[in-house]
Amino acid sequence: MTLLELNNLTAGYGQTPVLFNVDMSINQGDMVGLLGRNGVGKTTLLRSIIGLNKLTKGSLFFNNKDITKAPAYKRSRQGIAYIPQGREIIPYLSVLDNLKLGTSASGKSSKRIPSEIFEFFPMLKEHLPRQGGLLSGGQQQQLAIARGLMCNPKIMLLDEPTEGIQPSIVQEIEDTLKRINQEKGITVIVVEQKIDFIRQLAKSFFIMDKGAIVAKGTTRELTDSLVHRYLTV
Ligand SMILES: Nc1ncnc2c1ncn2[C@@H]1O[C@H](COP(=O)(O)OP(=O)(O)OP(=O)(O)O)[C@@H](O)[C@H]1O
Ligand SMILES: [Mg+2]
Repeated sequence: MTLLELNNLTAGYGQTPVLFNVDMSINQGDMVGLLGRNGVGKTTLLRSIIGLNKLTKGSLFFNNKDITKAPAYKRSRQGIAYIPQGREIIPYLSVLDNLKLGTSASGKSSKRIPSEIFEFFPMLKEHLPRQGGLLSGGQQQQLAIARGLMCNPKIMLLDEPTEGIQPSIVQEIEDTLKRINQEKGITVIVVEQKIDFIRQLAKSFFIMDKGAIVAKGTTRELTDSLVHRYLTV
């Protein structure tokens, strides 16, 4: 079943176009890698899906509903979680309060953190009273993913979750995303620059260049020549 469909999506900043006629169809349960060099529009595409960037053209369907005109908070309530590039943890709030911010996006405020959050991220349990800003970069990333899970999403959009993170935690994040996808059936789109990460994690991929989708396929079809042509610097 198709969960998310982008038709002819075109967007930009002010007068400057950034995305050009992006078509994408994502099935329920997919684990998708979105790749591309710096500045090709990956973040803009995720922001357009969650509703933080206005479209100049095109339409968006989620869970069989036209959400083209829905504001970001409604998309979040309908089950789209966005884990932004740079994580955006509130540094002076506790880990617990940062987690609770995830529920406010869903419109329900929650006093309790569901135990499954700590099954996926046991580390967070030990750090609940600490200020978010005192966690390591990798721990903050895990907190950001956990915060996204708090709204019980159908799909999670992650923007470079491994950027600037040490390898052991990158591996943990990979394993946890796999579990979230397989055990909870949550659809995942992950923007990444690390090809190995995508090859191990994703089932399919899209490559963007200059604001357009230029290649897609199953991860097995992510050949070295595509990598060379569109991804290496
Ligand atoms: N707030 C903004 N105002 C104006 N232009 C912007 C803004 N954000 C991004 N852009 C421009 O839009 C284009 C796409 O940027 P975007 O951040 O979507 O790329 P990206 O693929 O996510 O890059 P990176 O890999 O560096 O994160 C770039 O040319 C960028 O300079
Ligand atoms: Mg980006």
